[in-house]
Amino acid sequence: MDFGIAGKKAIVLGASRGLGAAIGRALAEEGVNVLAVSRSGAMPAVSENGAGRGAITARAIDLSDPDAVDAFAAEQKERADVDILINNSGGPKPGPARDQPRSEWMYAFGGMACPFFTVTDAVLDGMTKRNWGRIVTVGSSGIVQPIPNLALSNAIRSAIAGWSKTLAAEVAPFGVTVNMLLPGRIDTDRLRELDQAAAQRTGTSVEEVARASRARIPAGRYGNPEEFGAAAVFLSSQQAAYITGSKIPVDGGLIAGQ
Ligand SMILES: NC(=O)c1ccc[n+]([C@@H]2O[C@H](COP(=O)([O-])OP(=O)(O)OC[C@H]3O[C@@H](n4cnc5c(N)ncnc54)[C@H](OP(=O)(O)O)[C@@H]3O)[C@@H](O)[C@H]2O)c1
Repeated sequence: MDFGIAGKKAIVLGASRGLGAAIGRALAEEGVNVLAVSRSGAMPAVSENGAGRGAITARAIDLSDPDAVDAFAAEQKERADVDILINNSGGPKPGPARDQPRSEWMYAFGGMACPFFTVTDAVLDGMTKRNWGRIVTVGSSGIVQPIPNLALSNAIRSAIAGWSKTLAAEVAPFGVTVNMLLPGRIDTDRLRELDQAAAQRTGTSVEEVARASRARIPAGRYGNPEEFGAAAVFLSSQQAAYITGSKIPVDGGLIAGQ
């Protein structure tokens, strides 16, 4: 299928590894030119560039540094040439809702939600002028069904969901769609770190944590990042023009209800 996005320009935040890297690769496969942002500035691993593929360039920006985010946003506002923005970054620390210090809430909101808001605002001028744009934000199944001991993630991503839905209605008349993808359990560094932390907390092995976790997923397995990247490509496509304000799980059926 031709997704109608070859030659477009995308920014993928949090793109050196995991879900962001898979999205960057998948967009480039469709001929999109991708700017991959991360703290390290490492390139998402790609196989040799084939004919018709878009270019991937990488840039080192720490999204938890407001000055760096503001400078990047000002540059993008001036260029006004981004067609697709993927809002993604590292996840916050695990922990309960009770007794989280105010500093942790502020740090997690400032590092995860605020950069998405700022960079999105910066690219919207160009998108609305051209009457075409795609904003895709990576959330979590925890927005629909809170995940125990991930209070910062559950709460802050729910705030991001409120922002995404509100923005979707504001920019729909200008040909810009705004959606969220909700990963369930996709096999990345982050998932392995969380399984490791759960094993330490509960005094079991990582294998036992992963086995119990897979048993709760109707598909019976963790997802792979390529499956997640494919969903992001579809939401970024020409064909997805009438999908906006949505939260789409990529979770093997994990979310019970909805
Ligand atoms: N994997 C899952 O099953 C799952 C489920 C629910 C939610 N999520 C959420 O989805 C997001 C992506 O997940 P993932 O599994 O791909 O995570 P990951 O493996 O930890 O990768 C995170 C990516 O974000 C970058 N990053 C982290 N902090 C950053 C910062 N301050 N500034 C710029 N880039 C930063 C990392 O690169 P550098 O280290 O180079 O900066 C890396 O490329 C996370 O927020 C995660 O919590 C994932």
